[in-house]
Amino acid sequence: MLYTKIYTAKNPEAAAKIAADQFEAAIKQKPACVIGLATGSSPLPLYRELIAREQRGEIDFSRVRSANLDEYKGLPADHPQSYRFFMQENLFDHISIRPENTIVPDGLASDVEAMCMAYERKIEDWGGVDIQLLGIGHDGHIGFNEPCDHFPLWTHEAALTEMTRNANKRFFDSLDEVPTAAFTMGIGTVMAARRIVMIITGADKAEILYRAFFGPVTPEIPASVLQLHPDVTLVCDEAAFSLAAQKTV
Ligand code: F6R
Repeated sequence: MLYTKIYTAKNPEAAAKIAADQFEAAIKQKPACVIGLATGSSPLPLYRELIAREQRGEIDFSRVRSANLDEYKGLPADHPQSYRFFMQENLFDHISIRPENTIVPDGLASDVEAMCMAYERKIEDWGGVDIQLLGIGHDGHIGFNEPCDHFPLWTHEAALTEMTRNANKRFFDSLDEVPTAAFTMGIGTVMAARRIVMIITGADKAEILYRAFFGPVTPEIPASVLQLHPDVTLVCDEAAFSLAAQKTV
């Protein structure tokens, strides 16, 4: 592990405060900064913390631009399981960010290639991502970049593995309803961010945290590529760091 800064907090709420400090600092330094956002369980305490900080007047999202990592293929924005819907419910509807300054890949895109290229171009036009939030899947995926034999570069359509569909079925009525494909930023899109903050919490993530940050860099564990990024902050709780703590003393 070359450059990664690691913070270990007592619990997910304490980890969220550390991650929120990073976003607060980025926004204060550059009020119109571009933030990359993720969905899933890991960012929820952070989003609650960011909402509370704006309500207390500590952060101002009114000029911030945001680009989400991914979206399920086939789900419209108003579908309760779509990532656009998730972002509205858990963050955007509660902060002053302007709707036109938030982008999420279009789950209903008919011309996939054109949508993916336009997504990359929009981020480029905004001047690139200043600070990117990431979670990690149990198989090491970031966004929907699943383990494979290469690092996919840019925004693209990805097939979901059974492991990921099973992990995400908790949000749907049944496994059959979980989409089989998604649109996701590529590893190149993620690595182009100036700074990256990854949140990993829970004992169930201890093994993948260790493999991703203390093992070899390999597309079989997509998150391991973060070891090569010059500015990654890993914010985890003690449960997630437990195996790394044992192995690295
Ligand atoms: C979601 C995303 C995914 C999740 C990952 C972990 O936008 O990009 O890669 O970060 O699946 O999900 P949770 O946090 O629910 O364990």
